[in-house]
Amino acid sequence: MEKTFLMIKPDGVQRNLVGPIVERLENKGFKLAGAKLMHVSEDLAKTHYQEHQDKPFFGELVGFITSGPVFAMVLEGENVIDTARLVVGATNPQQAAPGTIRGDFGLTVGKNIIHGSDSPESAEREIGLFFDESEVLDYDLINSSWIY
Ligand code: TYD
Ligand code: MG
Repeated sequence: MEKTFLMIKPDGVQRNLVGPIVERLENKGFKLAGAKLMHVSEDLAKTHYQEHQDKPFFGELVGFITSGPVFAMVLEGENVIDTARLVVGATNPQQAAPGTIRGDFGLTVGKNIIHGSDSPESAEREIGLFFDESEVLDYDLINSSWIY
């Protein structure tokens, strides 16, 4: 089953939104395969966001993501990578649709509450950066014929 990486950023943790956000993702039907509260080191932040290293906002982004604990998750489900991005919403919360996490909770593009992997390649890469293999659990839900 497809897996993706999601991370509630320091603004979401500081605003006590871990519960409401995880609830939305679970309600959608995705299965949690891994989850932890953690600090992101500067090295990990730079590696995670390396595609943006030449952008003007890179320094601020790394500073923000390392500024406090994040809540990192691995979610599993059919087409979870693209569907979780829909649940997350557009990058800029001021343009994200109501009903999406960023649309309902986000303030500015710099403080947009949550990260979600954007492709199979980045999902695999980001899960590997943030989680040890032993932290990603393989288990069945009871009625797994109709839920993931
Ligand atoms: P990006 O990968 O474009 O967005 P997404 O998180 O939706 O995949 O950008 C990564 C993060 O960089 C984004 O979540 C917030 C931050 N960012 C800024 O601070 N300013 C910007 O102008 C952009 C495009 C992103
Ligand atoms: Mg991105």
